Amino acid sequence: MLHGFGTTAAGHLEMGGCDALDLARAFGTPLHVLDEGQMRASLRAYREALAAHYPAPSRPVFASKALCVVATCQVAHQEGFGIDVVSMGEIHTARLAGVPAADMIFHGSNKTPEELRYALREGVGRIVVDNFYELELLDEITREMECDAEVLLRLTPGIEPHTHKAIITGGVDSKFGFGILGGDAEQAVRRALELPRVRLRGLHSHIGSQILEVEPFVLAAEAMMDFAGRMKEQAGLTLAELNLGGGLGIRYTEEHQPPEVATLVHALGEIVVARARRYGIALPTLMLEPGRSIVGEAGVTLYTMGAVKAIPGVRTYVSVDGGMYENPRTALYDARYTAVVASRPNAPATQTVAIAGRCCESGDVLIWEASLPAVKPGEILAVFSTGAYNYSMAGNYNRYPRPAMVMVREGVPRVVVERETLDDLVRKDVPLPA
Ligand code: LLP
Repeated sequence: MLHGFGTTAAGHLEMGGCDALDLARAFGTPLHVLDEGQMRASLRAYREALAAHYPAPSRPVFASKALCVVATCQVAHQEGFGIDVVSMGEIHTARLAGVPAADMIFHGSNKTPEELRYALREGVGRIVVDNFYELELLDEITREMECDAEVLLRLTPGIEPHTHKAIITGGVDSKFGFGILGGDAEQAVRRALELPRVRLRGLHSHIGSQILEVEPFVLAAEAMMDFAGRMKEQAGLTLAELNLGGGLGIRYTEEHQPPEVATLVHALGEIVVARARRYGIALPTLMLEPGRSIVGEAGVTLYTMGAVKAIPGVRTYVSVDGGMYENPRTALYDARYTAVVASRPNAPATQTVAIAGRCCESGDVLIWEASLPAVKPGEILAVFSTGAYNYSMAGNYNRYPRPAMVMVREGVPRVVVERETLDDLVRKDVPLPA
């Protein structure tokens, strides 16, 4: 399983027309490699599916949190996506990518007054209001700044998809959004409609991430449309926009078989159209905000293998020059990954080993059970599907510098994030007087 990647004439792993061994040699390891062609293909799959399966305007948005760097925001915007941002840092990154603030949609479960002022000053297109505190803050700030805020309300439709509990967001017990079931959502709609400078454009939901079935999305879309229908009757809500969030899963291992983007979008389109007709609602602009399914499978991390420790009858640890500081997902979510040796990706596996990182923690293991051929120190390991929530969640634990990232396309590698240096690591340290 090479996750859509091929091999070079020499039999090495190939990404975007580049030999993985050449990339490792030229840019060092650990190295994030992002296949620009694959990322663009994923973006187009959403755009085309929306155009094919939804008979009214639509707006895809890239959830930049999955991989927020200037280059990914550039690519997403070039492909006609808006950018979902959750912080001033993400807004700033998207701005540097040339994305007009009007094409950004601002999320967050505890936006500060400073962030809201910044977003309004920049002219961010939509603010997704998460709670009553934020709604009242916006009222105050829009009056003070004498400007309008175009908002969606984030609702929790009470759907709990099968995914890791840390990444479920649409259930009743969630820090996010206004619950439909408890009545908060209704109260929020009524309140928003009272506020003179808060323009309620529509509703938003995001039920979780790495979801591998269509059903929970369908249930959420139904719950949202039913709520919109009720609010039209009871509160005079006009649903100009409906944002059904992101969450589509990707293939990390063979066991993950996500639905096609087109299948998901088709199912959602049908529900929105049918229920809009049922409730006499004009078709809203349909927004989706995928992150993982845009960049996840396009990303590969290359490592150099080092120490090998075999504990007979127990386990063999193969250590690499990265670890939880650049990919915390295994430690956080028991994430699963597939790896190959970059010089012979199709070589039959002869052993099951643990791929360990180099942080000072026993739990710093990237893959607990990797199937590999015999390996030697100095060889390059490629771990697939690391494009989403790896670099964006990386840190400097143990003062390891964060890896570089190259985007590859048609045989040309371009550095889009430079490797951190030792000086970068201490740049903000302030020594005490001697
Ligand atoms: N929209 C909202 C409001 C979100 O909170 C998220 C992700 C997305 C869209 C994009 O979801 P995606 O299509 O990427 O599933 N760090 C975790 C995932 C956290 C997801 C956070 N929100 C992980 O590594 O699995």
